[in-house]
Amino acid sequence: MGARHMQLLGAIWVVVVVTICAFSDEADAHEHCRRGFATCHKGRSCKTQVSCDPENCGKCGVRCPNAAHGQGRCEDGRCTLECQWRHGWRDCDSAKGNGCETNIDTSPKHCGKCGKVCPAPPANGTATCSKKDGCSIQCDARFSKCGTQCLNLQTDTANCGTCGNICPAPANGIATCSGGTCGVTCNDGFSLCGGECRDVNNDAGNCGTCNNACLAPENASATCSGGTCGFSCNTLMGKCGGAPLGDRCSNLLDDVNDCGGCNRPCPTIDNGTPKCSSGLCTTECNAGFTMCNDRCVDLGSDRNNCGGCDSACGMVPGACFCMGFVTGCRSVCTQGACSTTCPPESQDPTTCIKDCPIEDK
Ligand SMILES: *[C@@H]1O[C@H](CO)[C@@H](O)[C@H](O)[C@H]1NC(C)=O
Ligand SMILES: *[C@@H]1O[C@H](CO)[C@@H](O)[C@H](O)[C@H]1NC(C)=O
Repeated sequence: MGARHMQLLGAIWVVVVVTICAFSDEADAHEHCRRGFATCHKGRSCKTQVSCDPENCGKCGVRCPNAAHGQGRCEDGRCTLECQWRHGWRDCDSAKGNGCETNIDTSPKHCGKCGKVCPAPPANGTATCSKKDGCSIQCDARFSKCGTQCLNLQTDTANCGTCGNICPAPANGIATCSGGTCGVTCNDGFSLCGGECRDVNNDAGNCGTCNNACLAPENASATCSGGTCGFSCNTLMGKCGGAPLGDRCSNLLDDVNDCGGCNRPCPTIDNGTPKCSSGLCTTECNAGFTMCNDRCVDLGSDRNNCGGCDSACGMVPGACFCMGFVTGCRSVCTQGACSTTCPPESQDPTTCIKDCPIEDK
């Protein structure tokens, strides 16, 4: 049944009651009024309908009082209260005297109807009731509604500036929210470098101060200690330092500058290349040269090592004329073989000294 029908029925009922109250006039012959009627005014016997007259309700002179937001009515000889229904007023507590004390359009304890209590409000908020939206919450000053909560968006790190905006926490620090803007506070001993919390005492990328990156030599990694840069050598590398090579990491087993220990360079030999092997210096002779008695020699042309180590070319006897002497000439080594004849120059007195040295006798 629609609201219009209800209203219509209500109106008809009121008309019926008023009609009965206004026009009933019943008395019997012995001045005993019919049930529901009484004589409340002289000369008007049995004219008062005490069943529904709010001025004489039940009996003469009983007045049904109006009360807050309600009007006194008389029904079946008893006083009742008709609340200002359309404006939301109700007598929810059924207590006499305080009238229609409750407005179901605004009361969170009786929202929409008597006894319908709105859910408990969150911290920093109060429950509200409205005719349009029913139960709702109203946040206290400086608090904002996020879902079912009242939050301070100025300081809440999980709702900073707007609902649900979570401030990210960095490693070694905590997230902050101030004035609705996310920030970071670094833990003790850490400094804020580019949004991250860095230990400038030990961070090789931010050593002593933000963005100061420590450099490391080859085969080493940079370190930072007490805010000062350093380096540590890779495994199997020894830390060597000082002039002329500077601080460095060397493999002491095969580094020619630090062979068997720091600053122990392997010597360079003519026609050879220094090597360090298992911490000991060696020499690798260049191509075409052979190691003989710690020297790199050409066995094809070296008189003292002609064709092989310690194979020396001697003298070719009695073929050299020099300064009036007849002497032997020095045998030369050619393609690994000692010569057995003296060269023509050794027979020329002006040039013989070269090939016939006296001391080579
Ligand atoms: C917000 O609510 C909490 C928890 O009930 C309370 O401790 C705090 O004092 C309230 N803050 C304000 C500003 O009312
Ligand atoms: C670094 O190590 C490699 C491999 O051991 C080596 O070849 C190189 O010479 C080293 N560099 C320095 C500067 O010692």
